[in-house]
Amino acid sequence: MSQTPLSPGEPRVLIGATGSIAVTALPAYLAELRGQLGGTYTVLMTHTAATFLPPTTVAIHAERVVSGESPDDWPTDKPSRLAADHDIVVVLPATANMLAAAASGAAPNRLTTVILSTRSPVVFFPSMGAAMWDKPAVRRNIEQLRADGHHVPEPVWHDSYDVGSRTVSNHPTMPPPAELAKIVGSLLT
Ligand SMILES: Cc1cc2nc3c(=O)[nH]c(=O)nc-3n(C[C@H](O)[C@H](O)[C@H](O)COP(=O)(O)O)c2cc1C
Repeated sequence: MSQTPLSPGEPRVLIGATGSIAVTALPAYLAELRGQLGGTYTVLMTHTAATFLPPTTVAIHAERVVSGESPDDWPTDKPSRLAADHDIVVVLPATANMLAAAASGAAPNRLTTVILSTRSPVVFFPSMGAAMWDKPAVRRNIEQLRADGHHVPEPVWHDSYDVGSRTVSNHPTMPPPAELAKIVGSLLT
């Protein structure tokens, strides 16, 4: 089987996928990132992200998928190794919970530990309900992350249908794939 070798300079991207419902759009984002930037993609999924989107589905679109918090995985997937092996960490989507953990320097799981361990750029793409986004605690966490040198681009407001309330609501989420890939590309130069 022939394989295309990775060209020098092609980015090694670590996607940190967290438990927003927007994680179901991840395959389209991976396709666009790969199309614009080339490179290789590891997806590190939190427990909640892996309940919303099966890691086996993500594995169709990424070179490597890491999920679960078992110490059995540490020989190959320890946080320091994941941090050292990638040129950028893209938290996509980023929950309010993940923003809070990262802003306070907490490391309750493998993704937050990688964020603390890496010396590469980290960019968060938040996605949540409008009421969550407006909370002072969320605003504070975003300001803290920016002050600490992380990147938190402004989200795009999007209408989506909520099957629970049977209403359409406008809420902040990730920019469309082409726009998001440009932002990630600009952080790699
Ligand atoms: C159906 C459902 C949808 C959710 N969507 C979001 C969301 O869009 N944004 C968010 O910040 N939290 C959302 N949550 C809450 C997170 O899943 C929850 O805070 C979880 O602990 C996040 O874990 P993680 O940050 O480790 O992935 C949702 C929860 C459920 C049950």
